[in-house]
Amino acid sequence: MRITRRSVLPVAAGGLLAPGLLAAAPVSQPEHSGNAKARLGVTENPFGPSPAARRAIIASVAEAPYYPHNEAALRQKIAAQEGLTQDQVTLSSGSLDALTLLTVAIAAGGRVLAPRPTYSTHLAYAARQGIETDWINLRPDHHIDLDAMLAAIGPQTRMVYLCNPNNPTGLRPDPEQLRTFCIAAARKVPVLVDEAYFELAPDPHRQSMGSLVREGHDVIVTRTFSKVYGLAGLRIAYTLAQPQRIRQLNARITTSRNQAGLAAAQACLGDAAYLSGAIAYLKQCREMIYRICEANGLRYLKSDGTFVYIDCGMPAADLQARLAALSVEVRLFEGDAYRNWMRVGTATPDELAYFGKVLPTALGA
Ligand SMILES: Cc1ncc(COP(=O)(O)O)c(C=O)c1O
Repeated sequence: MRITRRSVLPVAAGGLLAPGLLAAAPVSQPEHSGNAKARLGVTENPFGPSPAARRAIIASVAEAPYYPHNEAALRQKIAAQEGLTQDQVTLSSGSLDALTLLTVAIAAGGRVLAPRPTYSTHLAYAARQGIETDWINLRPDHHIDLDAMLAAIGPQTRMVYLCNPNNPTGLRPDPEQLRTFCIAAARKVPVLVDEAYFELAPDPHRQSMGSLVREGHDVIVTRTFSKVYGLAGLRIAYTLAQPQRIRQLNARITTSRNQAGLAAAQACLGDAAYLSGAIAYLKQCREMIYRICEANGLRYLKSDGTFVYIDCGMPAADLQARLAALSVEVRLFEGDAYRNWMRVGTATPDELAYFGKVLPTALGA
């Protein structure tokens, strides 16, 4: 089957979007800033900020000379959305900052427990501070092995980290099983649940572990405006946790948020019309990747993230090098079981169409 943009994706590239998405689509497709023709190693959402967020960013220029003292409004809005008190919510400059500071604070003198592969930038930082991670391989069906993780919590374990949906697989644990796991694990050590792709899940509040924060468990949930909300460049995110954990995090945060990020986040949080447009865009990009895989006989996992994990059928490092020679960037993750797998980001239709065009060459080379 020949893959064309028209055949697989009703979202047109080059500045136009399908009519259904037009109302929500704020601007033309951005040009990516890197040198590669297809930057598929990243997880941002090129659909970009909502129209209201764009207006708020422009209006925030008037506040640019001043340090921000207006974080309370966004915190209040998040607390109301989550049914939490304000002392159970804090903001950070991207969720990576919160993940890193919490990991280092909580796991000092001990070890972290995490699935592999998973998002691990903060765990790599912690390792540089002498805090090592014990890795638990995914199950053969590529899901997080919650039973093995619970059994692995030992005297040295200070914190459990997991990501829902997991990056790079894009798979979500069953919410009831995850809930049971988190409650049991949190009796022993704090559980940090990274919900960077929260908004993309069907019925996100049912999938989220935010309810466990409401119920008083030592569960910490991080979420970000970087992914579905299209604000990665403005570095704004939030954490939900018990007040003691929020104080622990706040005590380590070194600087305030930025005016534009605060204003944009306040303007777009929970904007249902925008979210449905952004989610439709990302889903269609994922579908486009699925079709490309199918056309090339590659196995893939159906994802709830802004990326798709693909079995290359050959050492992924080799295919990555061949793709790089064709100006396509992809991401690989640690873990022996996944040496043949690469993660492809949803990117833009133009980038995906280019990927679809050159992949047969890379596979056949
Ligand atoms: C699972 C996960 N968590 C956290 C982050 C960090 O995002 P940010 O710091 O922009 O909120 C990322 C970014 O790629 C991610 O994939």
